[in-house]
Amino acid sequence: MKHYTSINDIDNIDDWIEEAKQLKANPLKNIDLGKNKTLGLLFFNSSLRTRLSTQKAALNLGMNPIVMNVSGDAWGLEFEDGTVMNGNTAEHIKEAAAVVSQYCNVIAVRAFPTLTDKEKDESEQVMNAFMKYASVPIVNMESATGHPLQGLTDALTISEYKKVAKPKVVLSWAPHIKALPHAVANSFIQAMQKMDVEFVIANPEGYDLNPKITGNTPIYHNQAEAFKDADFVYTKNWSSYEDYGKVVNTDPNWMITKDKLKDAKFMHCLPVRRNVVVEDAVLDSDNSIVIEQANNRTYAAQLVLKKILENG
Ligand code: CP
Repeated sequence: MKHYTSINDIDNIDDWIEEAKQLKANPLKNIDLGKNKTLGLLFFNSSLRTRLSTQKAALNLGMNPIVMNVSGDAWGLEFEDGTVMNGNTAEHIKEAAAVVSQYCNVIAVRAFPTLTDKEKDESEQVMNAFMKYASVPIVNMESATGHPLQGLTDALTISEYKKVAKPKVVLSWAPHIKALPHAVANSFIQAMQKMDVEFVIANPEGYDLNPKITGNTPIYHNQAEAFKDADFVYTKNWSSYEDYGKVVNTDPNWMITKDKLKDAKFMHCLPVRRNVVVEDAVLDSDNSIVIEQANNRTYAAQLVLKKILENG
C-alpha cells in the first residue's frame, strides 16, 4: 500500500482487523521495522487522539515522529495553481510538500473541510495536493470527507465487542451546537459496508449524508425505530449535506439517553459534548466503550504505518 487516504484503501477489512488484533496483543513486535524512518504529522486543525495515538503507533514501530501545527506555525500555504501570491499565502504546496518529503519517510495530514464550499471539499484539495507533490506516502488523519484511521478503529472495536456473529449497528446523528464535518460518519459508513453487520443510519430529515456514500444502507428518520434490537449505537453529529454545512435542526430529542440505548454498546469517536450529544448516564455506564475505542486508534494507525513501511 502506497497511501492510506480512504477506507477504500482497505482490500479485506476482516484480514486487517485480525492483523490489528495481533499488533494490539504484541505492540512492540515490529519495533525494528521503522528504525531510522521519520513520520511527519502535519495538523491544519486541532486534535488530541489522532495526534497522540499516531505518534504512539510510530514509536511502537521504531519510527521517529515529528509534529507541526501547520495553521499556527508554518507559512500560509497556497493550494491553487497559477495564483499571484500577493495575499495571505507565502508558500505553495508544490515547494512545501517536496521539502517535507526530504525530511520524512511518511507524511500524515489533518485538514478539515471548509463546510462552505462543497465542490472544494469534495475535491479533497489538501490531501490530493500532498499526494501529488510529496514524493513519500501520505496518511489521512481526517480530511474534508473522510477519517479512515477512525473508521478502521471503529471496525476493530466492533469486532472485539460483538457478541453475535452479525451484530446490528446503528449510526445515529445527535444534536450539536456547531456545524461539524461529515468525515467521521462517511468513513464509519464505508467501514460498516465492508463488514458482516446489519447496518442502518438514523438522522432527522435534512441530515441525509452524501447518497454516493450511504448507497443502499437503510436510513431512518425515526430514531426509536432504528434503535430496535441494536447491538451497537455509534453516535456522531454532522451538519447538513444537502443544505451544505448548515445546522438545520438541533432537536434535543435526538440526544442519546440510557433509556434509548437499552443493552446496546455506545460508541463515539470523541471529543463529545456531554448532555448535548449524549447524557452522562450513558458515558458513565458500562455500555459505553468510548475509552476502549480511543485506545484502538493506536493499533489502527500502527497497522496502516506497518503496511506502508512493508511496502518499502
Ligand atoms: N476522534 C478523533 O479524531 O479525535 P481527535 O480529533 O482528538 O484527534
